[in-house]
Amino acid sequence: MQIINTVCDLREVIKAWKAAGETVAFVPTMGNLHAGHLQLVTRAKESADRVVVSIFVNPTQFGVGEDFGAYPRTELEDQEKLLTEGADLLFLPSVADIYEPDVNTIITVADLSESYCGAFRPGHFSGVATVVCKLFNIVQPDVALFGLKDFQQLTIIKIMVRDLNIPIEIIGVDTVREPSGLAMSSRNGYLTEDEKRDASALYYILGVARDAILAGNQSLADIEKKAMLSLQQVGFQPDYFAVCRASDLKKATIEDVDLVLLVAAKLGKTRLIDNITFSK
Ligand code: PAJ
Repeated sequence: MQIINTVCDLREVIKAWKAAGETVAFVPTMGNLHAGHLQLVTRAKESADRVVVSIFVNPTQFGVGEDFGAYPRTELEDQEKLLTEGADLLFLPSVADIYEPDVNTIITVADLSESYCGAFRPGHFSGVATVVCKLFNIVQPDVALFGLKDFQQLTIIKIMVRDLNIPIEIIGVDTVREPSGLAMSSRNGYLTEDEKRDASALYYILGVARDAILAGNQSLADIEKKAMLSLQQVGFQPDYFAVCRASDLKKATIEDVDLVLLVAAKLGKTRLIDNITFSK
């Protein structure tokens, strides 16, 4: 596996691959890799001849008072995992490689960036869209893979790619979970043992709400209210619980068939997100 730090060196390698007729799959990450990230790499290998993974803790997607400084940085362990997984190239740029000091251009996918997580993390999704667009322009892959775990992020990236005619196929990959149901996340490392046990209720409560929708005898608003209450009873401070249309994340109506339930809630100091997709 090649490890490359600069945009210039990366472009050289990719140019040579493309000249040889090889296709490229790209998995952007912020590192501290777990089985969820590695599942993206496995799927990437099935999707193209070459696999590029980036690790870049992107400062512009963290708000004031969020965990940019404390975000776990485990570069050596990450490198070993990617080597074992069979990635071809690890791109590890510095902040100065990615951002000019007087950067002026920001990508914002309007509306959806302000709802759900966007309402609680102002500027977060502009930071994500901007860095992903930049990484797409740097790597120029044929396909890029993102986890369904971050469903709103995945939807925003699909809209950005459509709106800006970016010629990259976006593939969503299923969420990898702990045996307890807790979605794997770099932020799970912030949880105490007790919190980790309680955190599995997030997925359980999503399942209860899905079953209630499928049973069809309660309003969607009531189901959302009950889920918020259940979260509080377990000890979460929920930010939101929303029944949405899977295609565009608009609030679902009773006629919609393909749905996603989105949730974000704090447990102690840790903010967790999860979701579940299903069809009626
Ligand atoms: P990060 O949180 O490191 O996640 C990188 C990718 O791994 C994302 O596509 C995310 O959805 C996926 N992922 C995380 N946990 C997962 C799980 N349990 N199962 C499956 N996939 C999972 O998301 C980001 O980084 C950043 O916002 C980024 C897109 C890299 C832009 O900075």
